[in-house]
Amino acid sequence: MSRPRVLSGVQPTGSLHLGNWLGAIRNWVALQDSHDTFFCVVDLHAITVPHDPQRLAADTRSTAALYLACGIDPARSTVFVQSHVPAHSELCWLLNCITPLNWLERMIQFKEKAVKQGDQVSVGLLDYPVLMAADILLYDADLVPVGEDQKQHLELARDIAQQRVNARFGPRDADGEVIPVLKVPEPLILKEGARVMSLADGRNKMSKSDPNEGSRINLLDPPELITKKVKRAKTDPVMGLEFGNPERPETDNLLGLYALLSGKGRDAAASECAAMGWGTFKPLLAEALVEALRPIQARHAELSADPAELDRVLSSGRERASAVAEATLGRTRAALGFLPASDRAAQA
Ligand code: TYM
Repeated sequence: MSRPRVLSGVQPTGSLHLGNWLGAIRNWVALQDSHDTFFCVVDLHAITVPHDPQRLAADTRSTAALYLACGIDPARSTVFVQSHVPAHSELCWLLNCITPLNWLERMIQFKEKAVKQGDQVSVGLLDYPVLMAADILLYDADLVPVGEDQKQHLELARDIAQQRVNARFGPRDADGEVIPVLKVPEPLILKEGARVMSLADGRNKMSKSDPNEGSRINLLDPPELITKKVKRAKTDPVMGLEFGNPERPETDNLLGLYALLSGKGRDAAASECAAMGWGTFKPLLAEALVEALRPIQARHAELSADPAELDRVLSSGRERASAVAEATLGRTRAALGFLPASDRAAQA
């Protein structure tokens, strides 16, 4: 029996932060033993908002290096760059033409990001979730491990696969049952870490696009900077830390981070910090963060010093990914009725 398939990705937009790690990458690591895992650096998504061409390639490499530094093992996982597999763009086009525009117009992330850009919003930003659906559907993914904010995009990918492709274009078996063209994926959103909040406002999620650097901890922030950001993190005048008080979102977030990163878990962390003042708690949290990120930063530095090795990983990832992606794309083209190119027909 083949293992269930997993696909996920992160955009190489600037530096990856704690939310990207705790909400996504950390969960990918555990799946490598039980699943057939594909992880891509989604560079095509990174240009849906204005980007710096001088930085895209370096950020793409650095993001791939961070995957490995966080524990993704290229011997067990296929690690690749989205733009290196042209099937992503082609499947996106096929799906574009059968996805209703109003499905995209109601996407929360589009609405949030579009507001910030006024009349400069690109077609790509609106189309972002269709490209994401293509990423997932190309690999027949059973599971997609992501943070909470991606739930709506995952539902869209499921609807596109089920309602727009399989139901309309799936061939029928002898009993008239649809033979699915695309696999319908399930999201995997773990409770802890699924929504890491901003250090500047516990009601907003930690995000790469927040202009306030102090609102997030980047995975490559040096220890002094981490300590400084934690020291400045928003708190409240109440003594003692607790979970679940809606009036104290910052407390909930910071205590949650401590519970996760110290490895103590929520119950132990909550009783340890129940009577603690912020002046005692913040250095503890900073220490837990620095220690959790230390091995990742050390491994990232080693990998960055050997770009040829990273290139080898990405090149073999591209080969493995392309083989799977081309097969799915071929199946979809056929279902939609395209004339095969003669060299393709010769290969078939
Ligand atoms: P990106 O780069 O915005 O986020 C990458 C991953 O990090 C998670 N995440 C968070 N989790 C917890 N708390 C936060 N504050 C936080 N911020 C971000 C996101 O949920 C995501 O899992 N659209 C995707 C990229 C993508 C993708 C895909 C993912 C493109 N194609 C195919 C899965 C499968 C995104 O959010 O990127």
